[in-house]
Amino acid sequence: MDLHSIRDNEHHTAFAKELLLNNNRGGYTIPSARLYPFQWNWDSGFIALGLLHIDLQKAMEEIRSLFKGQWSNGMLPHINFHHPDPNYFPGPDHWATNDIPERPSAVQTSGITQPPVIGFILARMNDFLVEKPAEWKTFLKEIFPKVVDSHRYLYENRDPHREGLVYIHHNWESGTDNSPVWDDILEGIDVSQARDVATLRRDIKNVDVAQRPTNENYKRYICLIDLFIKHRYKDAEIVKECPFLVQDILFNCMLVKSNQGLIELAEKLNFDASILVEWNNKTIKAIQQKLWDESCGFYYNYDLKNQRRIPIKISSGFMPLFAGICTKQQADQLVYHLQYSFVKNEEWMLCPSTAADEPAFNPLKYWRGPVWINLNWMLYHGLLRYEKTDLAHKIKEQSVQLMQTIGMFEYFDARPVSEGGTRAGLGADLFSWSAALYLDFLYDPKPF
Ligand code: GLC
Repeated sequence: MDLHSIRDNEHHTAFAKELLLNNNRGGYTIPSARLYPFQWNWDSGFIALGLLHIDLQKAMEEIRSLFKGQWSNGMLPHINFHHPDPNYFPGPDHWATNDIPERPSAVQTSGITQPPVIGFILARMNDFLVEKPAEWKTFLKEIFPKVVDSHRYLYENRDPHREGLVYIHHNWESGTDNSPVWDDILEGIDVSQARDVATLRRDIKNVDVAQRPTNENYKRYICLIDLFIKHRYKDAEIVKECPFLVQDILFNCMLVKSNQGLIELAEKLNFDASILVEWNNKTIKAIQQKLWDESCGFYYNYDLKNQRRIPIKISSGFMPLFAGICTKQQADQLVYHLQYSFVKNEEWMLCPSTAADEPAFNPLKYWRGPVWINLNWMLYHGLLRYEKTDLAHKIKEQSVQLMQTIGMFEYFDARPVSEGGTRAGLGADLFSWSAALYLDFLYDPKPF
């Protein structure tokens, strides 16, 4: 990074901190005021890391608020609706979780989960805090068993064949909501009886429709939720009927990375880590056996319902680098795809969410092409771990540069201007995890 950008950093750092504090609603932080006015699960993990660089109390509060939504079966919901807000669809009433016995009494929630990031976020926070205040130790002891419970929920309820791979049953559980990897499965859903929800949508009132999922997509998303409501969110019933059952590579890598974070912490807290070690070894083995495609040299999602891999290259396939799962040789193969399949030439920004050479690639639409900061941040750490230092630094510098020159948006066009690339930010502006990870990129205590 040159001197100019280092000088600029002071201004941008202050901006990122202010953005996070502005999005803080007292105890928790919303992803963005215009599009996402509640608390989201994996967002809160990344946000807590950003808050740590501002105020430890707020970082701990963020995670405590998230766990207020935990169900009695361990499930950590993807949204906590702490306060009412009409500007989001589907809001609390659409999830109909109020009379579900497992739901918490403290807060209304959705009925699905999101990638399990809290285990590794806690480990990262613990590393950052050189002198560990007593309140941090108390906090860890309080939260640790809850995170383990959220993993236990996944292993006991989302892995019917006890393979070590957990499934998701809604694309919103993946975090990569409208990725092309879901297209075929969603297309196959019978929507003849489905509600038309186009007029209920709030997102397209705030963001250009070209950057958001279509109404047809939304109909299918809601159809799945209606199925969960019909079965009163009982996984054992849902699994029999649900057309969407996917062993997602990103989700399972987050689980491994978080298992590892918890194992590290368990040693320090004198907790027994044996079950975590057992789960973790099984998941690593299963990812290598089932999600790695030797002929393509890439990791793919597995459609458990139709028993087939989904051979579309998306940035989730790089997450085994972050979780330290792949061999050096596999890492080389992944890097080859990153350089020659995800981008068309050196002028492109790393890393598009869908490979540029995939027919479904769309440079502007959400998870179908644009660059996302959280995936870049994980990829950066993954590449460092495999000693791909130059590429790692390129990703970090490009991420920082995008946010400094364009703003702290939700996602960005990867194409250079010479190839039609827009240098305007995409999706939501003033997006919390972008700001949070901007701070973490800059403070960058150490790779992990
Ligand atoms: C979008 C993203 C999802 C994120 C949510 C809130 O739906 O796809 O990953 O959690 O926004 O920011």
